[in-house]
Amino acid sequence: MKSQIVIFLFLTVGQCFGQINCTILTSQGAKAPIQNDNFFKALSAANACPQNIESVNALLDSLFQNRKFLVANRGRNNPKQGSFSFFESYAGKNRNADADIFLGHFTHLKNVGGKAVIDLDQSMNKGQLIIELIAWDYSKGYYNFYELIGQGAYNQWFYRGDSKDIILDNQNIYLSQPAQFGHRLRCSGCHTSGGPIMKELAYPHNDWWIKARPLVFENAQSEHVLKRLREVDSAENFSIQVQAGMQKLEASSQFQMIKKSLSIPVQLRPLFCDLEINIQSDILPIDNGPIIQIPVASLGGPFTGRTPIAISKGSYQALLQKFGLQFPETRHQDADHAWLTPVKGHSDLLAIASLKAAGLVDDKTILDIYYSAPIGTLMNKDRCQLLKLVPNTRNWRPGFIQNLKTQNSLIAKALYQRMTDPALTPAAYQKAIGDWYVQTSRKLGAGDLEPTFKQLLLNRQSVIESDISKNPKGQILEPGFRVIFPVKRL
Ligand code: HEC
Repeated sequence: MKSQIVIFLFLTVGQCFGQINCTILTSQGAKAPIQNDNFFKALSAANACPQNIESVNALLDSLFQNRKFLVANRGRNNPKQGSFSFFESYAGKNRNADADIFLGHFTHLKNVGGKAVIDLDQSMNKGQLIIELIAWDYSKGYYNFYELIGQGAYNQWFYRGDSKDIILDNQNIYLSQPAQFGHRLRCSGCHTSGGPIMKELAYPHNDWWIKARPLVFENAQSEHVLKRLREVDSAENFSIQVQAGMQKLEASSQFQMIKKSLSIPVQLRPLFCDLEINIQSDILPIDNGPIIQIPVASLGGPFTGRTPIAISKGSYQALLQKFGLQFPETRHQDADHAWLTPVKGHSDLLAIASLKAAGLVDDKTILDIYYSAPIGTLMNKDRCQLLKLVPNTRNWRPGFIQNLKTQNSLIAKALYQRMTDPALTPAAYQKAIGDWYVQTSRKLGAGDLEPTFKQLLLNRQSVIESDISKNPKGQILEPGFRVIFPVKRL
Protein backbone atom coordinates (compact mmCIF):
# COMPACT_ATOMS: atom_id res chain seq x y z
CA MET A 1 0.00 0.00 0.00
CA LYS A 2 2.67 2.42 1.10
CA SER A 3 4.75 1.70 -1.99
CA GLN A 4 1.77 2.39 -4.25
CA ILE A 5 1.41 5.84 -2.73
CA VAL A 6 5.10 6.50 -3.31
CA ILE A 7 4.86 5.42 -6.95
CA PHE A 8 1.76 7.51 -7.47
CA LEU A 9 3.44 10.61 -6.00
CA PHE A 10 6.53 10.01 -8.09
CA LEU A 11 4.55 9.89 -11.30
CA THR A 12 2.60 13.03 -10.46
CA VAL A 13 5.73 15.01 -9.69
CA GLY A 14 7.39 13.63 -12.81
CA GLN A 15 4.47 14.57 -15.04
CA CYS A 16 4.29 18.08 -13.64
CA PHE A 17 7.92 18.68 -14.23
CA GLY A 18 8.58 17.57 -17.69
CA GLN A 19 8.58 13.79 -17.93
CA ILE A 20 6.22 14.04 -20.89
CA ASN A 21 8.53 16.24 -22.87
CA CYS A 22 11.75 17.64 -21.56
CA THR A 23 11.65 21.40 -22.02
CA ILE A 24 14.95 23.22 -22.09
CA LEU A 25 14.66 26.91 -21.21
CA THR A 26 16.73 29.94 -22.13
CA SER A 27 18.06 32.30 -19.45
CA GLN A 28 15.05 34.52 -20.20
CA GLY A 29 12.67 31.67 -19.38
CA ALA A 30 11.50 30.99 -22.94
CA LYS A 31 11.57 27.56 -24.56
CA ALA A 32 15.05 27.16 -26.06
CA PRO A 33 15.17 27.01 -29.88
CA ILE A 34 16.04 23.59 -31.34
CA GLN A 35 19.79 22.97 -31.31
CA ASN A 36 21.64 20.55 -33.53
CA ASP A 37 23.88 18.92 -30.94
CA ASN A 38 23.73 15.35 -29.67
CA PHE A 39 22.73 16.37 -26.16
CA PHE A 40 19.77 18.46 -27.27
CA LYS A 41 18.70 15.65 -29.60
CA ALA A 42 18.95 12.99 -26.88
CA LEU A 43 17.02 15.18 -24.44
CA SER A 44 14.31 15.93 -26.97
CA ALA A 45 13.90 12.25 -27.79
CA ALA A 46 13.86 11.12 -24.15
CA ASN A 47 10.52 10.41 -22.55
CA ALA A 48 11.85 11.56 -19.18
CA CYS A 49 13.79 14.73 -18.44
CA PRO A 50 17.05 13.66 -16.73
CA GLN A 51 17.13 15.17 -13.26
CA ASN A 52 20.62 14.24 -12.14
CA ILE A 53 23.95 12.91 -13.36
CA GLU A 54 22.92 9.27 -13.10
CA SER A 55 19.94 9.77 -15.39
CA VAL A 56 22.07 11.80 -17.82
CA ASN A 57 24.52 8.90 -17.86
CA ALA A 58 21.67 6.44 -18.37
CA LEU A 59 20.39 8.48 -21.31
CA LEU A 60 23.73 8.99 -23.06
CA ASP A 61 25.61 5.77 -22.18
CA SER A 62 23.74 3.73 -24.76
CA LEU A 63 24.49 6.22 -27.52
CA PHE A 64 28.08 7.27 -26.93
CA GLN A 65 31.37 6.30 -25.33
CA ASN A 66 31.63 7.74 -21.81
CA ARG A 67 34.79 8.64 -19.90
CA LYS A 68 35.03 10.05 -16.40
CA PHE A 69 37.80 12.17 -14.88
CA LEU A 70 38.37 13.62 -11.43
CA VAL A 71 40.09 16.70 -10.00
CA ALA A 72 40.64 17.65 -6.35
CA ASN A 73 39.22 21.16 -6.08
CA ARG A 74 41.13 22.22 -3.02
CA GLY A 75 44.36 20.51 -4.03
CA ARG A 76 45.49 16.90 -4.09
CA ASN A 77 46.91 17.12 -0.59
CA ASN A 78 43.80 18.77 0.83
CA PRO A 79 40.94 16.31 0.35
CA LYS A 80 39.31 16.64 3.76
CA GLN A 81 36.47 18.92 2.61
CA GLY A 82 35.42 16.24 0.14
CA SER A 83 35.35 18.78 -2.71
CA PHE A 84 36.06 17.15 -6.07
CA SER A 85 34.84 17.75 -9.61
CA PHE A 86 33.97 14.97 -11.99
CA PHE A 87 34.35 15.86 -15.65
CA GLU A 88 32.97 13.47 -18.22
CA SER A 89 33.03 13.19 -21.97
CA TYR A 90 30.90 11.48 -24.56
CA ALA A 91 32.43 10.60 -27.90
CA GLY A 92 31.09 8.75 -30.92
CA LYS A 93 31.86 5.05 -30.47
CA ASN A 94 34.77 5.03 -32.91
CA ARG A 95 36.01 8.55 -32.31
CA ASN A 96 37.51 8.38 -28.85
CA ALA A 97 39.61 11.52 -29.00
CA ASP A 98 36.81 13.60 -30.50
CA ALA A 99 34.24 14.18 -27.75
CA ASP A 100 30.89 15.67 -28.75
CA ILE A 101 29.68 16.30 -25.23
CA PHE A 102 31.56 17.39 -22.12
CA LEU A 103 29.97 17.70 -18.71
CA GLY A 104 30.94 18.49 -15.16
CA HIS A 105 29.45 17.86 -11.71
CA PHE A 106 30.68 18.09 -8.15
CA THR A 107 30.98 16.27 -4.84
CA HIS A 108 30.46 17.43 -1.28
CA LEU A 109 30.46 15.98 2.22
CA LYS A 110 27.23 14.48 3.42
CA ASN A 111 26.42 13.53 6.98
CA VAL A 112 25.62 9.82 7.07
CA GLY A 113 24.87 8.70 10.62
CA GLY A 114 27.25 11.26 12.10
CA LYS A 115 30.01 10.44 9.64
CA ALA A 116 31.12 12.77 6.81
CA VAL A 117 30.94 10.85 3.54
CA ILE A 118 31.91 12.12 0.07
CA ASP A 119 28.82 12.09 -2.10
CA LEU A 120 27.74 13.48 -5.47
CA ASP A 121 26.28 16.95 -4.95
CA GLN A 122 23.02 16.50 -6.85
CA SER A 123 20.59 18.12 -4.46
CA MET A 124 17.65 20.12 -5.82
CA ASN A 125 18.20 23.25 -3.71
CA LYS A 126 16.88 26.32 -5.47
CA GLY A 127 19.56 27.84 -7.68
CA GLN A 128 22.01 24.99 -7.17
CA LEU A 129 24.27 24.13 -10.10
CA ILE A 130 23.92 20.38 -10.61
CA ILE A 131 25.46 19.69 -14.02
CA GLU A 132 27.18 21.92 -16.56
CA LEU A 133 27.47 20.67 -20.10
CA ILE A 134 29.00 21.65 -23.44
CA ALA A 135 27.91 20.01 -26.70
CA TRP A 136 29.16 20.41 -30.25
CA ASP A 137 26.52 21.83 -32.56
CA TYR A 138 26.86 20.31 -36.03
CA SER A 139 24.91 23.04 -37.82
CA LYS A 140 26.56 25.98 -36.10
CA GLY A 141 30.05 24.47 -36.13
CA TYR A 142 30.71 25.43 -32.51
CA TYR A 143 29.61 24.60 -28.96
CA ASN A 144 26.37 25.02 -27.04
CA PHE A 145 26.49 25.61 -23.27
CA TYR A 146 23.91 24.11 -20.88
CA GLU A 147 23.25 23.87 -17.15
CA LEU A 148 20.97 21.83 -14.94
CA ILE A 149 19.82 24.06 -12.08
CA GLY A 150 17.90 23.07 -8.94
CA GLN A 151 14.46 24.62 -8.51
CA GLY A 152 13.62 23.31 -5.04
CA ALA A 153 11.26 20.49 -6.02
CA TYR A 154 12.75 19.58 -9.41
CA ASN A 155 15.68 20.49 -11.66
CA GLN A 156 15.55 22.54 -14.85
CA TRP A 157 17.80 22.37 -17.94
CA PHE A 158 18.89 25.70 -19.39
CA TYR A 159 20.47 26.49 -22.72
CA ARG A 160 22.75 29.43 -21.87
CA GLY A 161 24.18 30.27 -25.26
CA ASP A 162 27.00 29.20 -27.56
CA SER A 163 30.63 29.86 -28.50
CA LYS A 164 29.51 32.85 -30.56
CA ASP A 165 27.85 34.45 -27.54
CA ILE A 166 31.07 33.94 -25.59
CA ILE A 167 33.19 35.57 -28.28
CA LEU A 168 30.79 38.53 -28.28
CA ASP A 169 30.75 38.71 -24.46
CA ASN A 170 34.52 38.87 -24.45
CA GLN A 171 35.19 41.10 -27.45
CA ASN A 172 36.15 44.15 -25.36
CA ILE A 173 38.54 42.48 -22.93
CA TYR A 174 41.81 44.45 -22.82
CA LEU A 175 40.41 46.96 -25.30
CA SER A 176 38.44 49.06 -22.84
CA GLN A 177 39.31 50.47 -19.43
CA PRO A 178 37.88 49.49 -17.03
CA ALA A 179 37.33 45.99 -18.38
CA GLN A 180 33.91 45.51 -20.00
CA PHE A 181 32.18 42.16 -20.28
CA GLY A 182 29.02 41.13 -22.09
CA HIS A 183 26.20 39.52 -20.14
CA ARG A 184 25.01 36.80 -22.48
CA LEU A 185 26.18 33.85 -20.34
CA ARG A 186 28.27 33.30 -17.24
CA CYS A 187 30.35 30.63 -18.99
CA SER A 188 32.17 33.49 -20.80
CA GLY A 189 33.97 34.33 -17.56
CA CYS A 190 36.20 31.27 -17.73
CA HIS A 191 35.66 29.56 -21.10
CA THR A 192 37.08 32.76 -22.54
CA SER A 193 37.80 31.44 -26.02
CA GLY A 194 34.43 29.76 -26.46
CA GLY A 195 35.41 26.11 -26.03
CA PRO A 196 36.42 23.50 -23.48
CA ILE A 197 39.23 24.32 -21.05
CA MET A 198 41.49 22.41 -18.68
CA LYS A 199 43.84 24.53 -16.66
CA GLU A 200 46.29 21.73 -15.93
CA LEU A 201 46.31 20.66 -19.56
CA ALA A 202 49.91 19.41 -19.53
CA TYR A 203 51.13 16.26 -17.82
CA PRO A 204 51.24 15.59 -14.82
CA HIS A 205 47.91 17.53 -14.44
CA ASN A 206 48.84 18.46 -10.85
CA ASP A 207 45.51 18.12 -8.97
CA TRP A 208 43.88 15.55 -11.27
CA TRP A 209 43.49 11.80 -10.91
CA ILE A 210 46.08 10.16 -13.14
CA LYS A 211 46.83 6.48 -13.37
CA ALA A 212 50.41 7.01 -12.21
CA ARG A 213 49.17 8.98 -9.17
CA PRO A 214 45.56 8.41 -8.17
CA LEU A 215 43.93 10.98 -5.89
CA VAL A 216 43.70 10.35 -2.16
CA PHE A 217 40.71 10.80 0.16
CA GLU A 218 40.32 11.48 3.86
CA ASN A 219 36.64 10.53 4.01
CA ALA A 220 34.66 7.45 3.12
CA GLN A 221 32.80 7.62 -0.19
CA SER A 222 29.14 6.98 -0.96
CA GLU A 223 28.14 4.10 -3.24
CA HIS A 224 27.51 6.59 -6.06
CA VAL A 225 31.03 7.99 -5.75
CA LEU A 226 32.65 4.56 -5.33
CA LYS A 227 31.01 3.35 -8.51
CA ARG A 228 32.49 6.32 -10.38
CA LEU A 229 35.92 5.87 -8.81
CA ARG A 230 36.04 2.34 -10.18
CA GLU A 231 35.56 3.78 -13.68
CA VAL A 232 37.64 6.94 -13.42
CA ASP A 233 40.05 7.48 -16.29
CA SER A 234 43.49 9.08 -16.34
CA ALA A 235 43.50 12.87 -16.91
CA GLU A 236 45.89 12.48 -19.88
CA ASN A 237 42.87 11.25 -21.81
CA PHE A 238 40.79 14.26 -20.79
CA SER A 239 43.62 16.51 -21.90
CA ILE A 240 43.63 14.81 -25.31
CA GLN A 241 39.88 15.32 -25.65
CA VAL A 242 39.95 18.94 -24.47
CA GLN A 243 42.79 19.75 -26.86
CA ALA A 244 40.93 18.04 -29.71
CA GLY A 245 37.83 20.02 -28.74
CA MET A 246 39.73 23.33 -28.83
CA GLN A 247 41.28 22.35 -32.14
CA LYS A 248 37.91 21.39 -33.63
CA LEU A 249 36.49 24.79 -32.66
CA GLU A 250 39.48 26.67 -34.03
CA ALA A 251 39.35 24.69 -37.28
CA SER A 252 35.63 25.37 -37.79
CA SER A 253 34.99 27.75 -40.67
CA GLN A 254 31.80 29.05 -39.00
CA PHE A 255 33.74 29.86 -35.83
CA GLN A 256 36.46 31.56 -37.86
CA MET A 257 33.78 33.64 -39.59
CA ILE A 258 32.61 34.98 -36.24
CA LYS A 259 36.13 35.91 -35.26
CA LYS A 260 36.75 37.52 -38.63
CA SER A 261 33.65 39.66 -38.18
CA LEU A 262 35.46 41.37 -35.28
CA SER A 263 38.08 44.08 -35.67
CA ILE A 264 41.69 43.29 -36.58
CA PRO A 265 42.89 44.36 -33.08
CA VAL A 266 40.45 41.88 -31.52
CA GLN A 267 41.65 39.18 -33.88
CA LEU A 268 45.30 39.87 -33.00
CA ARG A 269 44.59 40.00 -29.27
CA PRO A 270 45.76 36.43 -28.40
CA LEU A 271 49.21 37.43 -29.67
CA PHE A 272 49.58 40.72 -27.79
CA CYS A 273 47.72 39.65 -24.65
CA ASP A 274 46.80 36.47 -22.73
CA LEU A 275 43.14 35.49 -22.91
CA GLU A 276 43.40 32.05 -21.35
CA ILE A 277 46.05 30.40 -19.22
CA ASN A 278 47.12 26.88 -18.52
CA ILE A 279 49.12 25.51 -15.63
CA GLN A 280 52.30 23.49 -15.87
CA SER A 281 54.68 22.08 -13.26
CA ASP A 282 57.51 19.67 -12.57
CA ILE A 283 56.72 16.26 -14.05
CA LEU A 284 57.37 14.28 -10.86
CA PRO A 285 55.74 14.84 -7.45
CA ILE A 286 57.67 17.06 -5.05
CA ASP A 287 58.54 14.18 -2.71
CA ASN A 288 60.40 12.42 -5.52
CA GLY A 289 64.19 12.80 -5.51
CA PRO A 290 66.59 15.72 -5.03
CA ILE A 291 66.00 17.47 -8.38
CA ILE A 292 63.23 19.71 -9.63
CA GLN A 293 62.52 20.22 -13.33
CA ILE A 294 61.21 23.64 -14.28
CA PRO A 295 58.99 23.68 -17.38
CA VAL A 296 60.66 26.01 -19.87
CA ALA A 297 57.36 27.62 -20.95
CA SER A 298 57.37 29.16 -17.46
CA LEU A 299 60.73 30.82 -18.06
CA GLY A 300 60.76 31.63 -21.74
CA GLY A 301 57.19 31.38 -22.94
CA PRO A 302 55.51 29.06 -25.44
CA PHE A 303 57.93 29.53 -28.34
CA THR A 304 60.98 28.31 -26.44
CA GLY A 305 60.51 24.62 -27.14
CA ARG A 306 63.24 23.21 -24.93
CA THR A 307 63.41 20.47 -22.27
CA PRO A 308 62.82 21.40 -18.59
CA ILE A 309 65.68 22.93 -16.59
CA ALA A 310 66.90 20.96 -13.58
CA ILE A 311 67.50 22.73 -10.27
CA SER A 312 68.24 21.48 -6.79
CA LYS A 313 65.23 20.78 -4.63
CA GLY A 314 67.09 22.16 -1.61
CA SER A 315 67.49 25.65 -3.05
CA TYR A 316 63.90 25.64 -4.27
CA GLN A 317 62.60 24.66 -0.85
CA ALA A 318 64.77 27.30 0.79
CA LEU A 319 62.92 29.89 -1.33
CA LEU A 320 59.51 28.47 -0.37
CA GLN A 321 60.66 28.96 3.21
CA LYS A 322 62.16 32.40 2.64
CA PHE A 323 59.02 33.73 0.94
CA GLY A 324 56.82 32.10 3.56
CA LEU A 325 54.62 30.17 1.15
CA GLN A 326 51.84 27.97 2.45
CA PHE A 327 48.44 26.73 1.36
CA PRO A 328 45.66 28.60 3.13
CA GLU A 329 43.88 25.45 4.35
CA THR A 330 46.80 23.15 5.16
CA ARG A 331 50.38 23.31 6.39
CA HIS A 332 51.76 22.31 2.99
CA GLN A 333 54.31 24.75 1.61
CA ASP A 334 53.82 23.75 -1.99
CA ALA A 335 51.54 21.95 -4.41
CA ASP A 336 51.86 18.26 -5.19
CA HIS A 337 54.28 19.11 -8.01
CA ALA A 338 56.90 21.81 -7.69
CA TRP A 339 57.00 25.00 -9.73
CA LEU A 340 53.30 25.13 -10.45
CA THR A 341 53.24 27.87 -13.03
CA PRO A 342 50.64 29.65 -15.13
CA VAL A 343 51.58 29.76 -18.82
CA LYS A 344 50.05 31.25 -21.94
CA GLY A 345 46.86 29.39 -22.84
CA HIS A 346 46.86 26.60 -25.40
CA SER A 347 43.78 28.12 -27.05
CA ASP A 348 45.67 31.40 -27.52
CA LEU A 349 48.40 29.47 -29.30
CA LEU A 350 45.85 27.77 -31.56
CA ALA A 351 44.37 31.20 -32.33
CA ILE A 352 47.83 32.54 -33.20
CA ALA A 353 48.35 29.59 -35.56
CA SER A 354 45.05 30.51 -37.26
CA LEU A 355 46.18 34.12 -37.63
CA LYS A 356 49.27 32.84 -39.36
CA ALA A 357 47.28 30.52 -41.62
CA ALA A 358 45.01 33.45 -42.52
CA GLY A 359 48.06 35.53 -43.48
CA LEU A 360 47.57 38.16 -40.76
CA VAL A 361 50.93 37.42 -39.13
CA ASP A 362 54.09 35.58 -40.10
CA ASP A 363 56.64 33.87 -37.86
CA LYS A 364 58.80 36.96 -37.56
CA THR A 365 55.87 39.15 -36.52
CA ILE A 366 54.75 36.56 -33.95
CA LEU A 367 58.20 36.43 -32.39
CA ASP A 368 58.78 40.21 -32.62
CA ILE A 369 55.59 40.91 -30.75
CA TYR A 370 55.81 38.07 -28.26
CA TYR A 371 59.39 38.86 -27.25
CA SER A 372 58.82 42.62 -27.03
CA ALA A 373 57.84 41.94 -23.40
CA PRO A 374 60.58 40.91 -20.94
CA ILE A 375 61.22 37.18 -21.25
CA GLY A 376 59.41 35.10 -18.63
CA THR A 377 56.60 37.60 -17.95
CA LEU A 378 52.95 36.61 -18.22
CA MET A 379 49.97 38.92 -18.73
CA ASN A 380 52.31 41.68 -19.80
CA LYS A 381 50.21 44.86 -19.75
CA ASP A 382 52.59 47.01 -21.76
CA ARG A 383 52.60 44.64 -24.72
CA CYS A 384 48.86 44.17 -24.48
CA GLN A 385 48.36 47.97 -24.53
CA LEU A 386 50.15 48.15 -27.89
CA LEU A 387 47.09 46.50 -29.40
CA LYS A 388 45.50 49.96 -29.37
CA LEU A 389 48.04 51.04 -31.98
CA VAL A 390 46.92 48.34 -34.43
CA PRO A 391 44.92 49.87 -37.30
CA ASN A 392 41.72 48.08 -38.20
CA THR A 393 42.84 46.85 -41.59
CA ARG A 394 44.04 43.50 -42.88
CA ASN A 395 47.33 45.02 -43.95
CA TRP A 396 47.88 46.32 -40.42
CA ARG A 397 51.67 46.10 -40.12
CA PRO A 398 52.75 49.32 -41.94
CA GLY A 399 50.30 51.50 -39.99
CA PHE A 400 51.21 49.77 -36.75
CA ILE A 401 54.93 50.35 -37.30
CA GLN A 402 54.20 54.03 -38.03
CA ASN A 403 52.16 54.26 -34.83
CA LEU A 404 54.92 52.60 -32.80
CA LYS A 405 57.34 55.24 -34.03
CA THR A 406 55.31 58.03 -32.45
CA GLN A 407 55.33 56.36 -29.00
CA ASN A 408 57.72 57.10 -26.16
CA SER A 409 57.33 53.92 -24.14
CA LEU A 410 60.29 51.56 -23.94
CA ILE A 411 58.30 48.63 -25.23
CA ALA A 412 57.04 50.55 -28.29
CA LYS A 413 60.58 51.64 -29.14
CA ALA A 414 61.90 48.11 -28.66
CA LEU A 415 59.18 46.61 -30.82
CA TYR A 416 59.75 49.23 -33.51
CA GLN A 417 63.41 48.19 -33.55
CA ARG A 418 62.52 44.52 -33.84
CA MET A 419 59.91 44.89 -36.56
CA THR A 420 62.14 47.09 -38.72
CA ASP A 421 65.26 44.93 -38.31
CA PRO A 422 65.39 42.51 -41.27
CA ALA A 423 68.31 40.64 -39.66
CA LEU A 424 66.07 39.58 -36.80
CA THR A 425 64.68 36.53 -38.59
CA PRO A 426 62.96 33.51 -37.00
CA ALA A 427 66.31 31.71 -37.35
CA ALA A 428 68.00 34.55 -35.45
CA TYR A 429 65.37 34.21 -32.73
CA GLN A 430 66.04 30.47 -32.51
CA LYS A 431 69.74 31.14 -32.08
CA ALA A 432 69.06 33.74 -29.36
CA ILE A 433 66.67 31.39 -27.58
CA GLY A 434 69.29 28.64 -27.72
CA ASP A 435 71.88 30.95 -26.13
CA TRP A 436 69.36 32.12 -23.53
CA TYR A 437 68.54 28.50 -22.68
CA VAL A 438 72.19 27.56 -22.12
CA GLN A 439 72.79 30.60 -19.93
CA THR A 440 69.59 30.15 -17.96
CA SER A 441 70.25 26.45 -17.35
CA ARG A 442 73.72 27.29 -16.12
CA LYS A 443 72.56 30.11 -13.87
CA LEU A 444 69.69 28.16 -12.32
CA GLY A 445 71.75 24.98 -12.08
CA ALA A 446 74.33 26.94 -10.09
CA GLY A 447 71.62 27.87 -7.57
CA ASP A 448 71.00 31.48 -8.69
CA LEU A 449 67.28 30.95 -8.44
CA GLU A 450 65.72 33.85 -6.55
CA PRO A 451 64.91 36.29 -9.43
CA THR A 452 63.30 33.47 -11.42
CA PHE A 453 61.33 32.31 -8.40
CA LYS A 454 60.10 35.85 -7.77
CA GLN A 455 58.96 36.00 -11.39
CA LEU A 456 56.99 32.80 -10.82
CA LEU A 457 55.20 34.45 -7.88
CA LEU A 458 54.57 37.58 -9.96
CA ASN A 459 53.16 35.53 -12.80
CA ARG A 460 50.73 33.74 -10.47
CA GLN A 461 49.63 37.13 -9.13
CA SER A 462 49.37 38.58 -12.65
CA VAL A 463 46.60 36.13 -13.53
CA ILE A 464 44.58 37.15 -10.49
CA GLU A 465 45.05 40.84 -11.32
CA SER A 466 44.51 40.58 -15.05
CA ASP A 467 41.40 41.74 -16.89
CA ILE A 468 40.40 38.14 -17.61
CA SER A 469 39.96 37.70 -13.84
CA LYS A 470 37.64 40.71 -13.53
CA ASN A 471 34.48 39.24 -15.00
CA PRO A 472 32.01 39.25 -12.09
CA LYS A 473 30.50 36.07 -13.54
CA GLY A 474 33.64 33.99 -13.00
CA GLN A 475 37.41 33.78 -13.10
CA ILE A 476 39.65 31.13 -14.58
CA LEU A 477 41.39 30.34 -11.26
CA GLU A 478 37.98 29.99 -9.55
CA PRO A 479 38.92 31.56 -6.19
CA GLY A 480 36.77 30.26 -3.36
CA PHE A 481 36.23 26.98 -5.19
CA ARG A 482 39.63 25.80 -6.40
CA VAL A 483 42.71 26.19 -4.22
CA ILE A 484 45.62 26.05 -6.62
CA PHE A 485 48.69 27.97 -5.49
CA PRO A 486 50.33 28.35 -2.09
CA VAL A 487 50.28 31.96 -0.91
CA LYS A 488 52.29 34.12 1.49
CA ARG A 489 51.72 32.93 5.03
CA LEU A 490 50.08 35.65 7.13
C1 HEC B 1 34.48 30.27 -12.73
C2 HEC B 1 35.01 29.76 -13.98
C3 HEC B 1 34.06 28.94 -14.83
C4 HEC B 1 32.82 29.29 -15.27
C5 HEC B 1 32.08 30.59 -15.03
C6 HEC B 1 32.37 28.18 -16.05
N1 HEC B 1 33.31 27.21 -16.10
FE1 HEC B 1 33.15 25.43 -17.03
N2 HEC B 1 35.01 24.93 -16.40
C7 HEC B 1 35.86 25.76 -15.72
C8 HEC B 1 37.14 25.13 -15.61
C9 HEC B 1 38.36 25.75 -14.98
C10 HEC B 1 37.02 23.87 -16.22
C11 HEC B 1 38.08 22.79 -16.38
C12 HEC B 1 38.51 22.20 -15.09
C13 HEC B 1 39.81 22.72 -14.62
O1 HEC B 1 40.63 23.16 -15.41
O2 HEC B 1 40.00 22.69 -13.39
C14 HEC B 1 35.67 23.80 -16.70
C15 HEC B 1 35.17 22.70 -17.36
C16 HEC B 1 33.91 22.62 -17.87
C17 HEC B 1 33.38 21.47 -18.55
C18 HEC B 1 34.12 20.21 -18.90
C19 HEC B 1 34.77 20.40 -20.26
C20 HEC B 1 35.92 21.35 -20.16
O3 HEC B 1 35.81 22.49 -20.67
O4 HEC B 1 36.92 21.00 -19.52
C21 HEC B 1 32.12 21.79 -18.92
C22 HEC B 1 31.16 20.92 -19.67
C23 HEC B 1 31.86 23.13 -18.46
N3 HEC B 1 32.96 23.61 -17.81
C24 HEC B 1 30.68 23.79 -18.69
C25 HEC B 1 30.45 25.10 -18.31
C26 HEC B 1 29.24 25.81 -18.61
C27 HEC B 1 28.09 25.26 -19.42
C28 HEC B 1 29.36 27.04 -18.04
C29 HEC B 1 28.36 28.15 -18.01
C30 HEC B 1 26.99 27.78 -17.71
C31 HEC B 1 30.65 27.07 -17.37
N4 HEC B 1 31.28 25.88 -17.57
C32 HEC B 1 31.12 28.15 -16.65
C33 HEC B 1 35.57 27.00 -15.22
C34 HEC B 1 34.38 27.65 -15.38
